Amino acid sequence: MTRTLQVDLGARSYPIYIGSGLLSDVEVYRPHLISQQVMIVSNDTVAPLYLDVVGATLAEYETRSVILPDGEEYKTLDIWNRIFDALLGARFNRRCTLVALGGGVIGDMAGFAAACYQRGVAFLQLPTTLLAQVDSSVGGKTGVNHRSGKNMIGAFHQPRCVIADTDTLRTLDSRQLSAGIAEVIKYGLINDADFFSWLEEHMDRLLQREPAALAYAIERSCRDKAQVVAADELEAGQRALLNLGHTFGHAIETGMGYGEWLHGEAVAAGTCIAARFSHDLGWLADQQVARIHRLFERAKLPTLAPRSLGTKRILELMAVDKKVVAGRLRLVLLKGIGNAVVTDNFDHARLLRVLDRCR
Ligand code: NAD
Ligand code: GLY
Repeated sequence: MTRTLQVDLGARSYPIYIGSGLLSDVEVYRPHLISQQVMIVSNDTVAPLYLDVVGATLAEYETRSVILPDGEEYKTLDIWNRIFDALLGARFNRRCTLVALGGGVIGDMAGFAAACYQRGVAFLQLPTTLLAQVDSSVGGKTGVNHRSGKNMIGAFHQPRCVIADTDTLRTLDSRQLSAGIAEVIKYGLINDADFFSWLEEHMDRLLQREPAALAYAIERSCRDKAQVVAADELEAGQRALLNLGHTFGHAIETGMGYGEWLHGEAVAAGTCIAARFSHDLGWLADQQVARIHRLFERAKLPTLAPRSLGTKRILELMAVDKKVVAGRLRLVLLKGIGNAVVTDNFDHARLLRVLDRCR
């Protein structure tokens, strides 16, 4: 069964298809391909697994591919340039379509290339990690890292559709599955307390990759995200809530060296730090913090920042966060499970003390 959701963005609205076997169904792609020219962007881990099936499905098109090295450490402007080499080498024009086949790194890089090639061409998201299926493929944030900060160079550019084939999750290793679950838990915490309770009840089914449980979690996560994106596409307000755990998390990822901690792992630890700080401010009860920690632990995710990263260094890295306004750091904190808020109204010395206790 294919589940279809819609991201409502006026003329730029698009569907998210979730289901089994979708990569090999040309009818799913066809309405979203506007010309014969199709460039598949993938990496050297995902391509051996899925490029043939996508290539065969799109055999009636003039399909080419560009394969990037796998890893967060390659999410750079240098490597990104290879996509343009491939597009120009193939003499692809403004009506070409890029197809991002991979996890969030490939989706972000291919999407950003689509935003820039000849001032903007179409692209489709074919997310193959849980994290990409529940988060990065939806909403049009694209970009690459800079050594000073995560995703610091990029653009908003919405895909023509998202095709999330749940069969691809079978080849994902357990650490990556858990990293995706971190972003799923995030939706429960932001504004969907019932979903958080559902996750407490069904975490073991997710870890066992039960197809029905995974499909439900993906659909509900995408529905939650699509609502926020539709209301605030360019993050003027409430979309910032989707960054729960990310200010701390991005600092961990950058500070440890890209690729050392997975994005989802850093978000898990970051969310637990946000919960501990919210508790310190009197916004979360003991029992709520315990529930949050317990759920991340059950998902086999870290709940503390790495000891090797000093508190001052974390704070320094947090200062380059995109949510900083007029020199003031803003954080996403919790006033309850299912009730996230963005605030700059906190004492930095207090934050420092909590950070010290969270390593
Ligand atoms: P990733 O893209 O690095 O993929 C994780 C690993 O799994 C990689 O080694 C990849 O090659 C491999 N892989 C992918 N699909 C596979 C499959 N089906 N079977 C086996 N291996 C597979 O990481 P990710 O967790 O998917 O994404 C993280 C990235 O997404 C970060 O760069 C983060 O900044 C970004 N992100 C972006 C957004 C957004 O809104 N644009 C949101 C969240 C995260
Ligand atoms: N992952 C955060 C966002 O899409 O806004």
